[in-house]
Amino acid sequence: MNFDIKKIRKDFPALHQEIYGKPLVYLDNAATTLKPQVVIDSITNYYSTINSNVHRGVHYLSQQATEEFENTRENIRKYINARNTHEIIFTKGTTESINLMAYSFGKKFLSQGDEVIISELEHHANIVPWQMICEEKRAKLKVIPINNNGELILEKFKDLITKKTKIVSVSHISNALGTVNPIKAIIDIAHQHDIPVMIDGAQGIVHEKIDVQELDCDFYCFSSHKMYGPMGVGILFGKEEYLEEMPPYQTGGEMIKTVTFEKTTFNELPFKFETGTPNVADVIGFGSAIDYIKKIGIENIIRYEEELLKYATQMLCGIQGLRIYGEAKKKAGVISFLLKDIHPYDAGIIIDKLSIAVRTGQHCAQPVMDRFGIPGTIRASFAFYNTKEEVDKLVEAILKVQEMFN
Ligand code: ALA
Repeated sequence: MNFDIKKIRKDFPALHQEIYGKPLVYLDNAATTLKPQVVIDSITNYYSTINSNVHRGVHYLSQQATEEFENTRENIRKYINARNTHEIIFTKGTTESINLMAYSFGKKFLSQGDEVIISELEHHANIVPWQMICEEKRAKLKVIPINNNGELILEKFKDLITKKTKIVSVSHISNALGTVNPIKAIIDIAHQHDIPVMIDGAQGIVHEKIDVQELDCDFYCFSSHKMYGPMGVGILFGKEEYLEEMPPYQTGGEMIKTVTFEKTTFNELPFKFETGTPNVADVIGFGSAIDYIKKIGIENIIRYEEELLKYATQMLCGIQGLRIYGEAKKKAGVISFLLKDIHPYDAGIIIDKLSIAVRTGQHCAQPVMDRFGIPGTIRASFAFYNTKEEVDKLVEAILKVQEMFN
């Protein structure tokens, strides 16, 4: 396997620091991934040289900025195999992509009495925007339940569909439990009823290969910063037939064709949805992150991460008094757990002091925690630069926490 972990780790400067006098073990990758040097360099390079606005100037640097910006759009199109570059909308992250969807799709396609289906496994970002537009339109929000393993119950999903269902929006991979949802099956079922499907891919695209044409999803969104790229950039992929119909989400410069005081006409796709000066440097940085992933190879990444997750699951299962939440047959990237009689925050504080970064709490997924009747979990989330030795350090830290509390 063309996968040299030592060499890969050298690419990530943040991995080589000490926290509280010990080497950092970074296991909070579902919150954000670390950035390889090439990404940092490409942002620095943009500000040190090009530093110009896009789509506006005829001067050399502005043209260069536009070229690099649009090359990144094409890079992303290819990476997810979208049909056209104008189906790739730059946003500031998954959350904004879903807000855009709920507002714009909702404005065009939702009316009183209509229904939107999400799932019990969603991040707040794939709940609240839909809840708000449903309230405004007096539509109904329906929720696919999960079983005790943290898997969506597909039979119940089928029962929720009615003639009033206008869209289904579900996550690809759960940030709280690591469940990989059967999105292809969900899309196929919804399409049998001519219902479009939006996939929140914030945790999905970093652990899986995405081909939006093969999936046939109508919308798929994700964030750069969870894919080793900079913060503040995200993507909404949408099928042209829907995006053409949807009204602009925000208005101002760039998204217009003509403006008079009587009337404004809007720009074509994708610019209709991209108002104001975009985050040019970070879009270009995102392009470098995609190139970096391509260099390592998503197949290699998937294989390595699967092995690491299997090892971590086995090791954690061997700890008495530790319970894993989320035992789906197909999981990726995440282990959520609790230690008997120890509050997750207390455990998190001690684990931190042992220089291990994990996340504790509800992980912006309160309904999932409510479903299991727990205040939150301790979450270890993995990337391809993590190692089995780091898993061993986590195990040692957990044993230490138990020793201190018992
Ligand atoms: N949604 C991110 C997480 O799961 C922030 O931590």
